[in-house]
Amino acid sequence: MARRRVREIDVVIETLDTDGLGSATYEDRDVRVRNALPGESVHARVLKRRRGIWYAQADTPEVGALDRQAPPPCAFFPRCGGCALQHLAYDVQLKHKEGRLLRVLEQAGVRPQKVRLPVAGPRLHYRYKARLGCRLLGSELLVGFREAFSSRVSRMDSCQTLALPFARNLPLLQEALAGLEQPHLVPQVELAAGDTEFAYVVRHLQPLTEADRARLLCFARNSGGRLYLQPEGYDSVHPLDPDDGSDYLAYSNLDFGLRYQFRPTDFTQVNPYMNRSLVRNAVLALDPPAGANVADLFCGIGNFSLPLARLGARVHGYEAASASIERAQLNTSLNGLTNQAQFQVVDLYHAEGGTLPEVEFLLLDPPRSGAGPNLRQWAAWPRLERIAYVSCSPDTFAEDARVLQQLGFELVEVGIYDMFPHTAHVETLGVFQRRG
Ligand SMILES: C[S@@+](CC[C@H](N)C(=O)[O-])C[C@H]1O[C@@H](n2cnc3c(N)ncnc32)[C@H](O)[C@@H]1O
Repeated sequence: MARRRVREIDVVIETLDTDGLGSATYEDRDVRVRNALPGESVHARVLKRRRGIWYAQADTPEVGALDRQAPPPCAFFPRCGGCALQHLAYDVQLKHKEGRLLRVLEQAGVRPQKVRLPVAGPRLHYRYKARLGCRLLGSELLVGFREAFSSRVSRMDSCQTLALPFARNLPLLQEALAGLEQPHLVPQVELAAGDTEFAYVVRHLQPLTEADRARLLCFARNSGGRLYLQPEGYDSVHPLDPDDGSDYLAYSNLDFGLRYQFRPTDFTQVNPYMNRSLVRNAVLALDPPAGANVADLFCGIGNFSLPLARLGARVHGYEAASASIERAQLNTSLNGLTNQAQFQVVDLYHAEGGTLPEVEFLLLDPPRSGAGPNLRQWAAWPRLERIAYVSCSPDTFAEDARVLQQLGFELVEVGIYDMFPHTAHVETLGVFQRRG
């Protein structure tokens, strides 16, 4: 079959969009260009067409914008889709993310009383959780992030954003998977690290041979990591070597004298450096007096609940994932806080009125879809004074902020936390106080 010729275009970039792509117009058509900044004239190849928009990747221009970071920290940018903004100077990345948040708040009619300076931490090797795809290409096995605008796996033998143990061991992992008798049975590997230990979760579509299990065990020993197998869903994840010791990884929050245990497939925050700042500032902003009641909604394994309990609040944590609630209960007990915190599995988007106790303080940390339809009901609790809202989506945050404003809450402080440097992801902490 004849290969479709890749279309090449020359465009001038007008703005940077919310995904970190340069927006331009080519023959009256909307074009979004990777590796392109406002003001730049770029030569680009069109890689995808969707709903009338062309998506293209630019060659690095000879004369770049003043804000261009050249060369980018990673040699595999822009082809690897793991990052979107490596070509933009870091301080401008922060301005871009903050600008996006303030714009959507303004569109929603919400004016914050105070905007905190962006909070940032290490820019490289911050990803303590990741999912890598695997793809057999002839006799070569690729293991990496997906390419931009494609489901193909990137050819990469290093990564500047993965946590150091994963970055250092990437070639070893690639070699081990390529050496399997049946490498095509492994579509992905998940990575999860705690403070001192790190783990690989190898998904396999059919039972592995003894020889392949032995190869993976050998990789685990050489890399210093733990290896888990995943034959089906997350419930099927188990250590390859049953004598591997504990099933858990662990991280500490020294600000509050806490230690958390978790399984590699539990939800934990990707960037531990930013997580510590976020937890500290959210908890200090909520500032419940000892004995006050706090609801931690979308609580995961108790990342925010336990610091609040440590300060003397009575914490009620709710979350849909039963495995996370089990871990929250385990961590409460390990940290000696069973009198201060209790947890329950609840689908917060569909919970009936009256399921949750009416509290004075609320911590919200929902997924991208936002707090959901019950936000109005929670905001109507008469004793509710203050809300700390942690968000991974500026759009739903702004929409929820509009609802809270209508229901009598003021956005007293807002700011971004750069959880994912070099990507377009925006993490926000907003603090709402009841008016009057
Ligand atoms: C952004 S994470 C926050 C987790 C936790 N606060 C932390 O810092 O680790 C969002 C959490 O919402 C949970 N979740 C998703 N949909 C939910 C729902 N409908 N009801 C309750 N929890 C839900 C997810 O399982 C996940 O743990």
